[in-house]
Amino acid sequence: MSDSSASKGSSAPKDAATKGMTIHLKIWRQAGRQAQGRFVDYTVHGIQQEMSLLEMLDILNEDLIRKGDEAIEFDSDCREGICGTCGLVVSGVAHGKHAGTTTCEIRMRQYQDGDTITVEPFRAGPFPIIKDLVVDREAFDRIQRKGGFISTNVGSAPDGNAVLVPKDCADNAMDAATCIGCGACVAACPNASASLFVSAKISQFAWLPQGAPERGRRALAMIAQMDSEGFGDCSNHGECEAVCPKQISIQNIAKMRREYIKAAWVGADKVRSSGGD
Ligand code: SF4
Ligand code: FES
Repeated sequence: MSDSSASKGSSAPKDAATKGMTIHLKIWRQAGRQAQGRFVDYTVHGIQQEMSLLEMLDILNEDLIRKGDEAIEFDSDCREGICGTCGLVVSGVAHGKHAGTTTCEIRMRQYQDGDTITVEPFRAGPFPIIKDLVVDREAFDRIQRKGGFISTNVGSAPDGNAVLVPKDCADNAMDAATCIGCGACVAACPNASASLFVSAKISQFAWLPQGAPERGRRALAMIAQMDSEGFGDCSNHGECEAVCPKQISIQNIAKMRREYIKAAWVGADKVRSSGGD
């Protein structure tokens, strides 16, 4: 167990509002894929309420580097809830305790001076840990490559009314399309199921006429790849929906199942209409 502090001192600052908070951290450190991991304790001082959790990790890393220690590896990119790159289990909950937010959107104002926060990576067999808090989510990319697209050259943007789409179909497609591929649904599921992610990617096209020509083949191929990656099956726990930062509905899983059954029953190339079932 080691201890690191952004500013040394045994007592916490008296005025957390101006001097910032002292936060204790238990962070998963793991040198590599095959290495044995463990929690390491750190303490950081001067954390302002306006900071994000990731900014606090940046401060901790700067301090570790200054001391010649190895920085803690973690993923992030946009830091505004768009890209899906970040993903940590924060005090036991994927993306933290607040619904509808990504890890990068966690603000320190939800914590009190002296709080302890546990930070660990998403844990699932198909998401092996690369180092510290970084996991390999390439399994999602391989599933996407099996059908998460439409095979047409779209050219320039068409006129908005060239293909008419009923409002409810457009809304359902848009809701599914907000999935950012973060993988929290897998991390939260006791079966490590990727059903919410895959169902969102299948549904977003199944509701639209543009997705209709490949509708059956898409469902069969993406689900086959999901199974081959080692993700578990869905048993309706609903944990995925609870942690999803984009609040993707598990109704999409029901739709994915209907897509699969139809394609398997009548033949992948005979499922051509779009929209409902
Ligand atoms: S369904 Fe939600 S939790 Fe799962 S990958 Fe998409 S955005 Fe992330
Ligand atoms: S870093 Fe892009 S969603 Fe968090």
